[in-house]
Amino acid sequence: MAESMEGLKRSFRCAEVTNANVGETVTLMGWVQKSRNKGGIIFTDLRDRSGIMQVIFETSEDNKDDYIDAEGFAKAEKLRSEFVIAVTGKVCKRGGAANENLATGDIEVRATSIRILSESEVPPFPVESDSKTKEELRLKYRCLDLRRPDIQKNIMFRSEVTRSVREFLYAEGFLEIETPILNKSTPEGARDYLVPSRVHPGNFYALPQSPQLFKQMLMVSGYDRYFQIAKCFRDEDLRADRQPEFTQIDMELSFVDQDDVIDVNERLLKKLFKDCLNVDIQIPMQRMTWQEAMDRFGSDKPDLRFGMELTNVTDVVKDVDFVVFKSAIENGGTVRGINAKGQGEMPRKKIDALVEYAKGYGAKGLAYVAIQNDGSIKSSFAKFMTDEQMAALIKAMGGENGDLLLFAADRNKTVWAVLGALRCKIADDLGMLKKDDYKFLWVTEFPQFEWSDEEERFQAMHHPFTMPMEEDIPMLDTDLGAVRAVAYDCVLNGVELGGGSVRIHRGDIQEKMFECLGIAHEDAQEKFGFLLDAFKYGVPPHAGLAFGLDRLVMLMVGADNIREVIAFPKVKDASDLMCECPNKVDEKQLEELFLKIDVDAINKSNTKEEAEA
Ligand code: AMO
Ligand code: AMP
Repeated sequence: MAESMEGLKRSFRCAEVTNANVGETVTLMGWVQKSRNKGGIIFTDLRDRSGIMQVIFETSEDNKDDYIDAEGFAKAEKLRSEFVIAVTGKVCKRGGAANENLATGDIEVRATSIRILSESEVPPFPVESDSKTKEELRLKYRCLDLRRPDIQKNIMFRSEVTRSVREFLYAEGFLEIETPILNKSTPEGARDYLVPSRVHPGNFYALPQSPQLFKQMLMVSGYDRYFQIAKCFRDEDLRADRQPEFTQIDMELSFVDQDDVIDVNERLLKKLFKDCLNVDIQIPMQRMTWQEAMDRFGSDKPDLRFGMELTNVTDVVKDVDFVVFKSAIENGGTVRGINAKGQGEMPRKKIDALVEYAKGYGAKGLAYVAIQNDGSIKSSFAKFMTDEQMAALIKAMGGENGDLLLFAADRNKTVWAVLGALRCKIADDLGMLKKDDYKFLWVTEFPQFEWSDEEERFQAMHHPFTMPMEEDIPMLDTDLGAVRAVAYDCVLNGVELGGGSVRIHRGDIQEKMFECLGIAHEDAQEKFGFLLDAFKYGVPPHAGLAFGLDRLVMLMVGADNIREVIAFPKVKDASDLMCECPNKVDEKQLEELFLKIDVDAINKSNTKEEAEA
């Protein structure tokens, strides 16, 4: 029994009606949150994206104009959750006690008419905040899930963020320019999503991992300040802050240096946090070189909300007769530790759990010294040390009674990864991480190259168009591992919010870069020839950056996963539970594309995966 809304106009959203409207007649439209029939009177909570308004349905023999008639009352008796209705009525002060949980808690609308615009089956889960419903079910029925007030808040907040970003960048003279989705492969280093071409059988487009090459082309073409809220696609393993399809606030500027890019982005973030959260963030923000970040925090995206910094104790333990330390040092590695203040009496079971956690980051083990409150020591390696050596180690670590000292011995990369993760885990376990404590940081002077164990060669840490630091250019011929890049990341509370670099605008350095990366001249030409050709015709010095919009919004609303701020996200295996994709396509579609599915190979790969799992 769906009725038309003809002749009716919604005059307010539910929670936009205020005390100032008392006495006025309003028309509201929305979803029934719940409806309670108390005999002669029906209380209905009406919901839309603004919030909830209580509507009452009551008949009156004496005052027909201000009350609902019998027919309307009968309709109201049928209301169930998620029915869509239109109600006209008068705004009144609440008869009963005010509801302090609602913005509209001391007013209500006394209905004079009602139309049921659409009925609803019983929803698979209640539409309410703080849902206990399993995420799978929520994502399958995402349209219902998206009605929940807490998600609606996130999605609306996200819209405010993009609005504020646009306002700022337009005011700063940026042009919003779209770049293609059907692309040639971009050089961000993840796996591409491919789209087969029908017109060019056997050929493929790649979906953009970022608009990197196009934005550099736009600089060559003279647009000097570009931005885009850009969809990016990367076929990589999903995590809490990673989706295969995500959004960047992407920008590029000409005739600028690193400080210019950082400055404009600090001001962008300042406005954004003021506009959307009414939070004042301090600029200029803290900066730290990559080397310092690794040495002090074991991470290139350090969480600065707490200390627990790393200490290099290699020199202190170099003569200790403990094979774990000895062999790490002999193999060119280091021994470093963190001091978990006040955790010395942590139960053995919990310490063992930390060891297991460390192993997840590549540690072979974790050595510890638990200084009890009475000063006695429990340690996994004390027996290999003299009292003097132990005292020196504790001193180096700033250890006091009641402290827990944790050590990793390995090559630097592993030690950093292990202790970097461990300090965050301990801080989190101890409830030290406040979500509304925003600690921003720029990490600068990243290494230009990163050694890949898998490929046994150097790869670009950022991308191959990143400018090396001027004073490090000579090392392109001698020591690739030591070359630093003019690359910078913006970090917030341990999350990489954005990253960018000054680009190479000199042909000779670009050629050199490809050579260092082992990309043959022909391959570079084949992959990026259009950019290299464009660079022959006058290139402005340029630089840029991209923020992950999803991550930014996640941190601003205090969510733990970017799925909570994306309207239609994908799950861990990159599938969309609502549309049920990826899915098989018609044989005919494949034929048109000259594609054949190798079923045997799929079966073989599935068997292998099952065996490994
Ligand atoms: P980068 O690869 O560092 O740089 O990406 C920029 C920012 O995008 C976000 N991000 C992601 N967010 C969600 N899911 C993902 N899978 C994902 N991958 C990246 C991060 C990251 O900091 N073209 C360069 C930028 C430049 O040099 O101007 C680029 O894409 O927040
Ligand atoms: P083991 O001699 O292997 O039993 O190790 C003695 C102690 O050293 C145990 O507490 C291990 O967890 C720890 N350990 C082992 N390997 C390492 C390592 N690479 N770094 C730090 N501690 C380790």
